[in-house]
Amino acid sequence: MVKKIIITIDGWSSCGKSTLAKQLAKELGYLYVDSGAMYRAITLFFLRNHIDWTDKKEVKKALKDINLAFIFNPKTQLSEIYLNDENVEYVIRDLVIAEKVSDVAAIKGVREFAVAQQKKMGAKKGIVMDGRDIGTVVFPKAELKIFMTADSAVRVQRRFKEFFEKNPNVTIEEVKNNLEMRDYIDSNRKVSPLRKAEDALLLDNTQLTQTQQFQKAMEWVNQKITKI
Ligand code: DC
Repeated sequence: MVKKIIITIDGWSSCGKSTLAKQLAKELGYLYVDSGAMYRAITLFFLRNHIDWTDKKEVKKALKDINLAFIFNPKTQLSEIYLNDENVEYVIRDLVIAEKVSDVAAIKGVREFAVAQQKKMGAKKGIVMDGRDIGTVVFPKAELKIFMTADSAVRVQRRFKEFFEKNPNVTIEEVKNNLEMRDYIDSNRKVSPLRKAEDALLLDNTQLTQTQQFQKAMEWVNQKITKI
């Protein structure tokens, strides 16, 4: 039997981490976990319940009322995130959430809450998880760590296209400002900032198609699997 491994994919906002993670999980029959969805769902809860997230005590109390779960949807063949039994997979992609999520994800208590659950999900291996601190904090011993990047203009275009399909009123400036702000906060926060793990393999997909990046990643997967 082929041994299962843990694959971590970290990197800047909108450089295609989830696309690659989903492709790898499908190919390998692994579980895919979008860790960013957890921070987005927490942000949604805080906004809906008017939680003042600058107040540590209020955050601690609010987190006790949050139950997050990933449930497999046979139609999409993917796990979708549930916040207190409500499917929020699609609502959390809104720009309103994107505007606040980096602030919420920078809170120590929030990170401890999410990371503890993420670590449990990888206990049996056979998992692909994407995020910002997966290779550095959540699974520092993962067998394969990928750090993704792409030119910022390319990332803005890709994310703009995605948002525009849902909301034609969105402007490219809004998307650009949001990406720049998130990248800044994510990489400058005190608690587990975004950075490349020393042993992560760099994947710059500025010039790559989705098929090419998938092939590259599969080469790395096969090298790792044959080594163990
Ligand atoms: O991957 P994403 O864009 O859905 O992530 C949303 C936000 O959550 C992102 O701005 C940074 C934060 N995040 C994080 O701090 N750590 C993770 N492991 C995943 C996401």
